[in-house]
Amino acid sequence: MNRILFSEPFRAGLESQYVAEALQGMNWQGDGPFTQRATDWLTTYTGAPHALLTTSCTHALELASILLDLGPGDEVIVPSFTFTSTATAVAIRGATPVFVDIEPETQNIDPQKAAAAVTDRTKAIYLVHYAGVAADVAALRAIADAHGLALVEDNAHSLGAYLDGQHLGTFGELATQSWHGTKNVACGEGGALLINNDAMVERAEIVREKGTNRSVFLRGAVDKYTWVDQGSSYLPSDILAALLMAQFDSFERIQDLRHGVWDRYRSDLTGWAAEQGATLMSVPEGRQHPAHMFYLLMPRAEDQGGLIAHLKERDIVATFHYQPLDAAPAGQALGRTPEPCTVTADTAARLVRLPLHAGLTEQDLDRVVTGVTEYRTRA
Ligand SMILES: Cc1ncc(COP(=O)(O)O)c(C=O)c1O
Repeated sequence: MNRILFSEPFRAGLESQYVAEALQGMNWQGDGPFTQRATDWLTTYTGAPHALLTTSCTHALELASILLDLGPGDEVIVPSFTFTSTATAVAIRGATPVFVDIEPETQNIDPQKAAAAVTDRTKAIYLVHYAGVAADVAALRAIADAHGLALVEDNAHSLGAYLDGQHLGTFGELATQSWHGTKNVACGEGGALLINNDAMVERAEIVREKGTNRSVFLRGAVDKYTWVDQGSSYLPSDILAALLMAQFDSFERIQDLRHGVWDRYRSDLTGWAAEQGATLMSVPEGRQHPAHMFYLLMPRAEDQGGLIAHLKERDIVATFHYQPLDAAPAGQALGRTPEPCTVTADTAARLVRLPLHAGLTEQDLDRVVTGVTEYRTRA
């Protein structure tokens, strides 16, 4: 019996060909022909006016923090239920992440609590669309506009996700993508910054290119390039961009397969969940999720470990997710938490994610569904 992994990168078919092509060329560094193709694909697909590939979503978030000139004394509102990167990208600039609780239906930042956390030091809100289900962007935009804050979307989960027909990642001034091996499209490690504000593009290119105006030089607009601003090295190799482009070219197929898995879980687990008091991931009206994740909320914390162990005995890897950042040692040392994040604590203790990747077979899905439905909660 094969082990059913929680996540696996999907080899869609063109990967070896594109990587071989990149290797035969002379441009192994960043911003080569595959980088250009992948960037064009991304802007066309998402509708974002500008995109820059980066070495990770974490680096794209750091780039955003540099563009917003964050520094000591500044505060950024972030959800307490997120990956560390949303907060480290703030803390690395000496600014303070301010942890705000989430809404129980979507696990996204609660706008009312975000509004209450604004101070005269707040510079931005970094929101996350958890599992690619849109956060309440309209309410968060209203708060940002009322206080002159920037809105940044941590869009790590959300390629292929929409709100009222508009692709996620096009609502904030900036948004960040991830192509980490666990994401719907992957090149091992990688990311992108989507830039929806034209005024930020030139500086973003400079910061990504070690603080130099090399991009302007390559376009022939200046004779020599030089150090003009803050910066770091956030360009991925064109070989990684080739791998990414192969995945982009198969995106529709990857998404069809992933949605098939998600729909199967939803339909086959609904009865069991109702009986056992578990709650399946829900997607409110108007929000189109990208089948990045399928999670359930168990009725009690004991059932989180209980279900994970029960599936492990059947060689199926299911897993919990983020641990509350406000309670983490670095969160307490580097962040601020105005109000207790009780929904985050509860969600973190009860959430279980099921295996979801494009390589799952019908037999694998039968095993997962049988495994879950044989579990009895400890009610
Ligand atoms: C919400 C969120 N932001 C950022 C990241 C970091 O992405 P990367 O590994 O590309 O830096 C993750 C990782 O899974 C994530 O879940």
